[in-house]
Amino acid sequence: MRKPTITTESGRYFLTDRIRDEVNFYDTPQSEGIAPPPVQKPAAPGSRIIPLPAPAAWAITTYDLRTAIAERESRRRFTGERLLLDELAFLLWATQGVRNVLHETAVLRTVPSAGCRPPFETYLGVLRVAGLEPGLYRYLPLDHALVHERDIPNPPAALTAVCRGQAFAGQAAVTFIWTAVMARTEWRYAEASYKVIALDAGHVCQNLYLACEVIGAGTCAIAAYNQRLADDLVGVDGNEELTVYIAPVGKVARK
Ligand SMILES: Cc1cc2nc3c(=O)[nH]c(=O)nc-3n(C[C@H](O)[C@H](O)[C@H](O)COP(=O)(O)O)c2cc1C
Repeated sequence: MRKPTITTESGRYFLTDRIRDEVNFYDTPQSEGIAPPPVQKPAAPGSRIIPLPAPAAWAITTYDLRTAIAERESRRRFTGERLLLDELAFLLWATQGVRNVLHETAVLRTVPSAGCRPPFETYLGVLRVAGLEPGLYRYLPLDHALVHERDIPNPPAALTAVCRGQAFAGQAAVTFIWTAVMARTEWRYAEASYKVIALDAGHVCQNLYLACEVIGAGTCAIAAYNQRLADDLVGVDGNEELTVYIAPVGKVARK
């Protein structure tokens, strides 16, 4: 293999912070006074909105964080059990839940985000969740609700294909598919956005791993997915908004 060195063309460059020396921060949409993009994509008019149970209503027991960290592992074998709606609500809250609305452009979440510019939308390929028909949904963090996006023909096959044949995605109760809306982060960071978006995604998925431990479920991060199939499944253009990470979730047999 050709030995890569750190040039602007090499993948290694991506992991450095050198780009920040090159970005003209006086020339970003933020510094030009352009309004930031909305923190949440609106639901299409007439679409079905499913309110999620609020934290106070969850029948979820407290769980020792130390145990969750110690026992977390990537889990690829799921039972056929359904997830309950409050369990799904808990996972969504843990990964993108709103902690504090400072103002309409600065919304603090349960996970950190560089410059408070969380770029993600959370799509769900639902197979087995109590009270939800199988299909594609999206989390609306500001409303703590789901919007039904569309039905998915043959969801297990579609999700397996999206994950390059990794069959456990089709066996999950629900598969999280995170996209990034590029303009949210680019508004402040321009070309310095891409590394921080990848870092942000890691925090989100780790919270999913830990939250899954609490409810007797498991997950496995997936970076090996088919970009075009993933973007097509969730209905994004793959440029302004694109899939960055996937995580199937299901109940697991307790040891
Ligand atoms: C960024 C990232 C991408 C990953 N992609 C995949 C994947 O596509 N398929 C898979 O089976 N596991 C994937 N994994 C899971 C790793 O294989 C797993 O974390 C690793 O083997 C360590 O095991 P543990 O998570 O149980 O500690 C991924 C993990 C990370 C953090």
